[in-house]
Amino acid sequence: MRVNSLSIKNFRCFNELSLTFSNRVMITGKNGSGKSSVLESLYFIMNGKSFRTTDLNDMIKDDEDYLFVESNYKDDFDWEHNSSFGFDRDGRKKILQNGEAAHRKDIMKAASVVVHSPEDIKIVDGPPSKKRDFLDRAIFLTEKKFYSTVVNYKSYLKQKKILLRNGNKNGLLYLNRAVIPYIEEIVKKRQIIAQNIEKITKKIFEEMSLPLSLKIILPDQDENIEEKLNSKIDKELLKGYSLYGPHLDIIKIIVLNRRGKSISMGEKSLISLILKFAEVQLLNDLGIESLFIGDDIIGFIDATRSDMIFSYCTTMENQFIVSHIDSENKKSNWEYITL
Ligand SMILES: Nc1ncnc2c1ncn2[C@@H]1O[C@H](COP(=O)(O)OP(=O)(O)O)[C@@H](O)[C@H]1O
Ligand SMILES: [Mg+2]
Repeated sequence: MRVNSLSIKNFRCFNELSLTFSNRVMITGKNGSGKSSVLESLYFIMNGKSFRTTDLNDMIKDDEDYLFVESNYKDDFDWEHNSSFGFDRDGRKKILQNGEAAHRKDIMKAASVVVHSPEDIKIVDGPPSKKRDFLDRAIFLTEKKFYSTVVNYKSYLKQKKILLRNGNKNGLLYLNRAVIPYIEEIVKKRQIIAQNIEKITKKIFEEMSLPLSLKIILPDQDENIEEKLNSKIDKELLKGYSLYGPHLDIIKIIVLNRRGKSISMGEKSLISLILKFAEVQLLNDLGIESLFIGDDIIGFIDATRSDMIFSYCTTMENQFIVSHIDSENKKSNWEYITL
């Protein structure tokens, strides 16, 4: 996909701002100039959520009641879209796609965006939930109908909570049987995507001459899911919450350097970026050309490796819209927007 333009109103520090984008855009500016906010608004119009906050009201400019974001872009099939999303502090929202009322999932399904932000170091260094989210988002981008599998699984978890509260063992047995196909699908697809991402990451390490190795480790697949689910019921009834399922799976990402030692913080943030590049590459291989948004793309990465990152980006056909604090050493092949 390609984003042509973005207009925002009352978004974070901005009253009004309109931008047009070429294929490789570097947003620079001082701390607090609004670089992350611009990228956040772009992600927001494509996904209906933020990569920085779970409370959407945080994005409304202080002392204002509402915000509005609009964008013109081409989707994976080269169809041009105009999306707009506005909402106010009372929770009233208006989403339009090509002039018609739309849902968040409509715009999510039309857009393919891979975002990387400094927070993503948690994919390497953080809890399993961050790794699950990373894989699940990658699956969704390869196959948008995975959205409904996730929605169905979440609704199972909600119903399960109610049955556990009511001590309804028969209901739980019935519900467990119904959820099996969703669990199987999530577990299987996570395994496939993890393998593919691992493979591509290895290739990128080689291309960048990085002496690192990476492994994504998922729990062994259970032979009999129904038996496993049902074996937990008595304990779950005591505890009042679910004890088994892909929403709890422990996923590990192990990265070692050449000497088999663990890696530094700087290297971890580099790895999280490379994992996102691998996601973009994987999508390219499937014929899905995603937009890459990279907030503070270089962060603490050293000069040599940051040069490697920038030249890696220029080998890809995808549109890159990234932010970077340094506006001094301008790179060729990038269009600069200084805030
Ligand atoms: N809801 C808001 N209303 C007004 N200003 C905000 C809001 N949220 C954040 N800001 C301010 O917006 C400015 C830009 O933030 P940010 O986009 O993170 O800058 P950068 O990424 O360039 O360092 C900061 O000074 C921040 O305090
Ligand atoms: Mg920032």
